[in-house]
Amino acid sequence: MDEKLKEFHKKLKKNLENQEKYYESFIYSKEAGFYQGFDKIELKGCRSSEKRLERYDIKEFLSDSKKALDIGCNCGFFTLLISDLVSKIDGVEINPFLIQIARDTKDFLKNHNSSFYTTSFEKFRPKEKYDIIFSLANDETVDGNTKFTFIEYILKIRNLLNPEGLLIFESQALKESLNEFPEKKYEHLKKHFDILVEKKVPTDYPYNVKERAFFVLKKK
Ligand SMILES: C[S@@+](CC[C@H](N)C(=O)[O-])C[C@H]1O[C@@H](n2cnc3c(N)ncnc32)[C@H](O)[C@@H]1O
Repeated sequence: MDEKLKEFHKKLKKNLENQEKYYESFIYSKEAGFYQGFDKIELKGCRSSEKRLERYDIKEFLSDSKKALDIGCNCGFFTLLISDLVSKIDGVEINPFLIQIARDTKDFLKNHNSSFYTTSFEKFRPKEKYDIIFSLANDETVDGNTKFTFIEYILKIRNLLNPEGLLIFESQALKESLNEFPEKKYEHLKKHFDILVEKKVPTDYPYNVKERAFFVLKKK
C-alpha cells in the first residue's frame, strides 16, 4: 500500500476513534471498524460496496442523467461508488463522524459530483427532487434514530422523487428479515410504487442474517 493511502487510512481511523469517544448513539460494526467496504480505497468493511452493487444488479436503472439520494449513507462508500454511474448524488446521514469519513473520502478521491449532509432524513429539506433514492437497510434503524413511521418514511421518499422516479430499497436486518418481508410494509410499498424488481439478496452483515429483501420501485 502506498504512503498516501496509509496516511489516508490513519485519518479515517481517527474519525472512528472520535466516533467511539464522542458519539452518544449506537455504533454500527463497532468491533470491525467500517460498516461499508470500498475497494477503491482498499478498505474491507463489513459489507463490501462493490459486492452489494453486483448483487443488486441495478446498473440498467442508473445513468449519467440521473440525480440520486442515499438515505442514511453511513460513511458514504456506497454513495461514492454510485457517483460514477449517475450525474450527481447526495448522501444524508445523522452521524457526523460518518459524514466526516464520507467527506474525507470524497476529497481523497477528488470526487466532484457528491455532497454529504449531516442531518436526519426526517429534517432533510433538499431544494431539488431526485430521479433515484436509495433506502438501504434504513427504513427502521436499530439505533432508534429513525423517528418516522414506515408510511411517513415512504411518503417523504415519494414526495422527494421526480415523476416516475425510482426507489431502490433493501430491508434492514431486524429479526423479521430473517423470515419474510413484513406484509404491512409490502402493502404500503405496493400502494405508492410499481414493483419493477423484487428479490432476496445475500448479505454478509450482521453475521446471523443471510438474506435481505430487495426492491426496485417506480413512483406511481
Ligand atoms: C444499518 S445502517 C445502513 C447504512 C447504509 N444505508 C448502508 O446500507 O450501507 C443505518 C444508517 O442510518 C443512519 N441513521 C439512523 N437514523 C437516521 C435518520 N433518522 N436519518 C439519517 N440517517 C439515519 C445510521 O447512523 C446508520 O449509518
